Amino acid sequence: MLRLQKFLAQCGVASRRGAESLIQEGRVTVNGETVRQMGVQIDENNDRIAVDGVLVEPEKKMVYVLLNKPVGYVTTVSDDKGRNTVMDLVAEIPVRIYPVGRLDYDTEGLLLMTNDGDLTYRITHPKNNIEKTYVAEVTGNISMNTLLQLRNGVYLDGVKTSPAKVEVIGATRYGTKLEITIHEGKNRQVRRMFESVGCIVKRLKRTREAGLTLGHVPLGHWRKLTEAEVNMLKKIGTNKKSSAQVSRERFGRANQKKRK
Ligand code: URA
Repeated sequence: MLRLQKFLAQCGVASRRGAESLIQEGRVTVNGETVRQMGVQIDENNDRIAVDGVLVEPEKKMVYVLLNKPVGYVTTVSDDKGRNTVMDLVAEIPVRIYPVGRLDYDTEGLLLMTNDGDLTYRITHPKNNIEKTYVAEVTGNISMNTLLQLRNGVYLDGVKTSPAKVEVIGATRYGTKLEITIHEGKNRQVRRMFESVGCIVKRLKRTREAGLTLGHVPLGHWRKLTEAEVNMLKKIGTNKKSSAQVSRERFGRANQKKRK
Protein backbone atom coordinates (compact mmCIF):
# COMPACT_ATOMS: atom_id res chain seq x y z
CA MET A 1 0.00 0.00 0.00
CA LEU A 2 1.22 3.45 -0.87
CA ARG A 3 -0.02 7.04 -0.58
CA LEU A 4 -1.55 8.17 -3.85
CA GLN A 5 0.67 11.25 -4.22
CA LYS A 6 3.81 9.16 -3.56
CA PHE A 7 2.76 6.65 -6.21
CA LEU A 8 2.19 9.42 -8.77
CA ALA A 9 5.62 10.89 -8.00
CA GLN A 10 7.32 7.49 -8.23
CA CYS A 11 5.74 6.97 -11.63
CA GLY A 12 7.27 10.23 -12.81
CA VAL A 13 3.91 11.95 -13.34
CA ALA A 14 4.85 14.97 -11.21
CA SER A 15 6.76 15.94 -8.09
CA ARG A 16 5.10 14.99 -4.77
CA ARG A 17 3.83 18.61 -4.48
CA GLY A 18 2.68 18.59 -8.11
CA ALA A 19 0.85 15.31 -7.53
CA GLU A 20 -1.01 16.86 -4.60
CA SER A 21 -2.16 19.69 -6.86
CA LEU A 22 -3.40 17.18 -9.45
CA ILE A 23 -5.40 15.42 -6.75
CA GLN A 24 -6.85 18.70 -5.42
CA GLU A 25 -7.84 19.72 -8.93
CA GLY A 26 -9.86 16.49 -9.24
CA ARG A 27 -7.79 15.18 -12.13
CA VAL A 28 -6.88 11.85 -10.49
CA THR A 29 -9.11 8.77 -10.37
CA VAL A 30 -8.64 5.52 -8.46
CA ASN A 31 -10.58 2.66 -10.05
CA GLY A 32 -12.70 5.20 -11.92
CA GLU A 33 -13.58 7.30 -8.82
CA THR A 34 -12.23 10.85 -8.55
CA VAL A 35 -10.18 11.28 -5.40
CA ARG A 36 -9.74 14.80 -4.00
CA GLN A 37 -8.59 14.20 -0.45
CA MET A 38 -4.92 13.81 0.49
CA GLY A 39 -3.36 10.73 2.00
CA VAL A 40 -5.51 8.10 0.30
CA GLN A 41 -3.73 4.76 0.33
CA ILE A 42 -3.69 2.74 -2.86
CA ASP A 43 -2.62 -0.78 -3.78
CA GLU A 44 -0.08 -0.11 -6.55
CA ASN A 45 -0.37 -3.68 -7.84
CA ASN A 46 -4.15 -3.85 -8.17
CA ASP A 47 -5.69 -0.37 -8.23
CA ARG A 48 -6.12 1.44 -11.53
CA ILE A 49 -4.87 5.00 -11.21
CA ALA A 50 -5.46 7.55 -13.97
CA VAL A 51 -4.61 11.22 -14.47
CA ASP A 52 -6.89 13.10 -16.85
CA GLY A 53 -8.24 9.71 -17.86
CA VAL A 54 -4.80 8.30 -18.80
CA LEU A 55 -3.72 5.19 -16.92
CA VAL A 56 -0.51 5.63 -14.90
CA GLU A 57 1.96 2.71 -15.02
CA PRO A 58 4.69 2.26 -12.40
CA GLU A 59 8.13 2.91 -13.82
CA LYS A 60 9.89 -0.41 -14.27
CA LYS A 61 13.09 -0.54 -12.29
CA MET A 62 15.96 -1.30 -14.62
CA VAL A 63 18.76 -3.44 -13.25
CA TYR A 64 22.18 -3.77 -14.89
CA VAL A 65 24.61 -6.40 -13.66
CA LEU A 66 28.09 -7.60 -14.61
CA LEU A 67 28.55 -11.28 -13.74
CA ASN A 68 31.81 -13.24 -13.71
CA LYS A 69 30.41 -16.45 -15.16
CA PRO A 70 32.19 -19.67 -14.24
CA VAL A 71 32.56 -22.63 -16.61
CA GLY A 72 29.65 -25.07 -16.18
CA TYR A 73 26.73 -22.64 -16.49
CA VAL A 74 24.52 -22.12 -19.52
CA THR A 75 23.45 -18.60 -20.48
CA THR A 76 19.78 -19.49 -20.84
CA VAL A 77 16.89 -19.07 -18.45
CA SER A 78 16.32 -22.82 -18.19
CA ASP A 79 18.07 -25.89 -19.52
CA ASP A 80 16.38 -29.06 -20.78
CA LYS A 81 19.48 -31.07 -19.81
CA GLY A 82 19.17 -29.89 -16.21
CA ARG A 83 22.49 -28.02 -16.23
CA ASN A 84 23.16 -24.98 -14.03
CA THR A 85 22.08 -21.71 -15.58
CA VAL A 86 23.41 -18.20 -14.96
CA MET A 87 20.00 -17.42 -13.45
CA ASP A 88 21.10 -19.48 -10.40
CA LEU A 89 23.96 -17.02 -9.85
CA VAL A 90 21.73 -13.93 -9.69
CA ALA A 91 18.82 -15.54 -7.82
CA GLU A 92 19.07 -13.05 -4.94
CA ILE A 93 18.27 -10.11 -7.26
CA PRO A 94 14.54 -9.45 -6.72
CA VAL A 95 13.99 -8.37 -10.34
CA ARG A 96 14.16 -10.92 -13.16
CA ILE A 97 17.15 -10.13 -15.37
CA TYR A 98 18.37 -11.88 -18.51
CA PRO A 99 21.75 -12.53 -20.14
CA VAL A 100 22.88 -10.04 -22.78
CA GLY A 101 23.97 -12.41 -25.53
CA ARG A 102 25.69 -15.74 -24.93
CA LEU A 103 28.80 -17.25 -23.44
CA ASP A 104 29.41 -20.97 -23.99
CA TYR A 105 28.93 -23.47 -21.18
CA ASP A 106 32.72 -23.95 -21.14
CA THR A 107 33.60 -20.22 -21.34
CA GLU A 108 34.03 -18.06 -18.27
CA GLY A 109 34.14 -14.34 -17.65
CA LEU A 110 32.19 -11.17 -18.26
CA LEU A 111 28.47 -11.58 -18.87
CA LEU A 112 26.13 -8.60 -18.73
CA MET A 113 22.62 -9.22 -17.44
CA THR A 114 19.67 -6.82 -17.41
CA ASN A 115 15.92 -6.44 -17.74
CA ASP A 116 16.45 -3.56 -20.19
CA GLY A 117 15.40 -5.27 -23.40
CA ASP A 118 16.14 -2.23 -25.52
CA LEU A 119 19.74 -2.05 -24.34
CA THR A 120 20.18 -5.82 -24.80
CA TYR A 121 19.00 -5.43 -28.37
CA ARG A 122 21.47 -2.63 -29.03
CA ILE A 123 24.45 -4.38 -27.45
CA THR A 124 23.81 -7.61 -29.34
CA HIS A 125 22.84 -6.13 -32.71
CA PRO A 126 25.66 -6.80 -35.24
CA LYS A 127 25.28 -3.33 -36.77
CA ASN A 128 26.64 -1.77 -33.57
CA ASN A 129 29.96 -3.67 -33.82
CA ILE A 130 30.38 -4.08 -30.09
CA GLU A 131 33.91 -5.20 -29.21
CA LYS A 132 34.43 -8.26 -27.03
CA THR A 133 37.85 -9.26 -25.75
CA TYR A 134 38.82 -12.79 -24.68
CA VAL A 135 41.89 -14.38 -23.19
CA ALA A 136 42.36 -17.75 -24.88
CA GLU A 137 44.75 -20.49 -23.88
CA VAL A 138 45.35 -22.65 -26.91
CA THR A 139 47.43 -25.68 -27.80
CA GLY A 140 50.66 -25.26 -29.75
CA ASN A 141 52.79 -22.36 -30.77
CA ILE A 142 51.46 -19.50 -32.84
CA SER A 143 53.62 -18.38 -35.75
CA MET A 144 53.56 -14.84 -37.10
CA ASN A 145 51.83 -16.19 -40.16
CA THR A 146 49.02 -17.72 -38.05
CA LEU A 147 48.64 -14.46 -36.13
CA LEU A 148 48.24 -12.56 -39.39
CA GLN A 149 45.68 -15.09 -40.60
CA LEU A 150 43.60 -14.67 -37.43
CA ARG A 151 43.90 -10.89 -37.62
CA ASN A 152 42.89 -10.68 -41.27
CA GLY A 153 40.01 -13.12 -40.92
CA VAL A 154 39.56 -16.86 -41.34
CA TYR A 155 36.77 -18.76 -43.06
CA LEU A 156 34.03 -20.23 -40.86
CA ASP A 157 31.31 -22.07 -42.79
CA GLY A 158 32.58 -20.38 -45.95
CA VAL A 159 32.29 -16.84 -44.56
CA LYS A 160 35.35 -14.77 -43.65
CA THR A 161 35.45 -13.38 -40.13
CA SER A 162 35.98 -9.63 -39.78
CA PRO A 163 39.45 -8.37 -38.90
CA ALA A 164 40.33 -9.11 -35.28
CA LYS A 165 42.91 -7.80 -32.84
CA VAL A 166 45.07 -10.72 -31.75
CA GLU A 167 48.18 -10.60 -29.56
CA VAL A 168 50.26 -13.30 -27.92
CA ILE A 169 50.44 -12.47 -24.21
CA GLY A 170 52.24 -15.50 -22.80
CA ALA A 171 52.97 -19.20 -22.80
CA THR A 172 51.26 -22.05 -20.93
CA ARG A 173 52.21 -25.64 -20.11
CA TYR A 174 50.65 -26.86 -23.32
CA GLY A 175 50.80 -23.89 -25.62
CA THR A 176 50.10 -20.20 -26.03
CA LYS A 177 48.03 -17.55 -24.26
CA LEU A 178 46.52 -14.88 -26.46
CA GLU A 179 44.22 -11.90 -26.24
CA ILE A 180 41.69 -11.66 -29.03
CA THR A 181 39.17 -8.90 -29.69
CA ILE A 182 36.29 -9.45 -32.10
CA HIS A 183 33.08 -7.58 -32.79
CA GLU A 184 31.03 -10.37 -34.30
CA GLY A 185 29.06 -12.98 -32.39
CA LYS A 186 29.08 -16.13 -34.50
CA ASN A 187 28.42 -19.33 -32.60
CA ARG A 188 31.60 -20.47 -30.75
CA GLN A 189 33.48 -17.99 -32.89
CA VAL A 190 36.75 -17.75 -30.98
CA ARG A 191 37.06 -21.53 -30.56
CA ARG A 192 36.31 -22.09 -34.25
CA MET A 193 38.73 -19.36 -35.36
CA PHE A 194 41.54 -21.11 -33.51
CA GLU A 195 40.41 -24.54 -34.76
CA SER A 196 40.65 -23.20 -38.31
CA VAL A 197 44.37 -22.55 -37.77
CA GLY A 198 44.95 -25.93 -36.10
CA CYS A 199 44.77 -24.98 -32.40
CA ILE A 200 42.41 -26.23 -29.69
CA VAL A 201 41.16 -23.69 -27.15
CA LYS A 202 41.77 -25.15 -23.68
CA ARG A 203 40.49 -22.18 -21.70
CA LEU A 204 38.47 -19.16 -22.76
CA LYS A 205 37.62 -16.13 -20.67
CA ARG A 206 35.84 -12.94 -21.72
CA THR A 207 37.55 -9.99 -20.08
CA ARG A 208 35.92 -7.03 -21.79
CA GLU A 209 32.69 -6.12 -23.57
CA ALA A 210 31.29 -2.81 -24.79
CA GLY A 211 33.99 -0.86 -22.93
CA LEU A 212 33.38 -2.66 -19.61
CA THR A 213 36.05 -4.81 -18.01
CA LEU A 214 35.72 -7.81 -15.74
CA GLY A 215 37.95 -6.19 -13.10
CA HIS A 216 38.09 -7.91 -9.74
CA VAL A 217 34.60 -9.43 -9.59
CA PRO A 218 35.24 -12.92 -8.12
CA LEU A 219 34.25 -15.94 -10.20
CA GLY A 220 30.54 -16.72 -9.77
CA HIS A 221 29.81 -13.26 -8.33
CA TRP A 222 28.29 -10.12 -9.80
CA ARG A 223 28.22 -6.37 -9.27
CA LYS A 224 25.75 -3.71 -10.35
CA LEU A 225 26.95 -1.36 -13.07
CA THR A 226 27.56 2.22 -12.00
CA GLU A 227 25.36 5.01 -13.32
CA ALA A 228 28.27 6.21 -15.48
CA GLU A 229 28.67 2.72 -16.98
CA VAL A 230 24.94 2.47 -17.74
CA ASN A 231 25.00 5.92 -19.34
CA MET A 232 27.96 4.87 -21.48
CA LEU A 233 26.08 1.74 -22.64
CA LYS A 234 22.98 3.77 -23.41
CA LYS A 235 24.95 5.70 -26.02
CA ILE A 236 25.31 2.51 -28.09
CA GLY A 237 23.32 2.75 -31.29
CA THR A 238 22.84 6.51 -30.93
CA ASN A 239 24.98 9.09 -32.68
CA LYS A 240 26.66 10.02 -29.41
CA LYS A 241 30.14 8.58 -28.93
CA SER A 242 30.80 6.75 -25.70
CA SER A 243 34.03 7.50 -23.84
CA ALA A 244 35.15 3.94 -24.72
CA GLN A 245 34.67 4.70 -28.43
CA VAL A 246 36.54 7.99 -28.12
CA SER A 247 39.46 6.36 -26.30
CA ARG A 248 39.49 3.45 -28.79
CA GLU A 249 39.72 5.91 -31.65
CA ARG A 250 42.50 7.88 -29.94
CA PHE A 251 44.31 4.67 -29.03
CA GLY A 252 43.91 3.40 -32.57
CA ARG A 253 45.33 6.63 -34.00
CA ALA A 254 48.28 6.56 -31.59
CA ASN A 255 49.05 3.00 -32.70
CA GLN A 256 48.85 3.94 -36.34
CA LYS A 257 51.34 6.74 -35.74
CA LYS A 258 53.69 4.36 -33.94
CA ARG A 259 53.58 1.90 -36.84
CA LYS A 260 54.52 4.59 -39.41
N1 URA B 1 33.62 -17.44 -28.68
C1 URA B 1 33.54 -18.72 -28.29
O1 URA B 1 34.07 -19.60 -28.93
N2 URA B 1 32.85 -18.97 -27.17
C2 URA B 1 32.28 -18.04 -26.41
O2 URA B 1 31.67 -18.35 -25.38
C3 URA B 1 32.37 -16.71 -26.84
C4 URA B 1 33.06 -16.44 -27.98
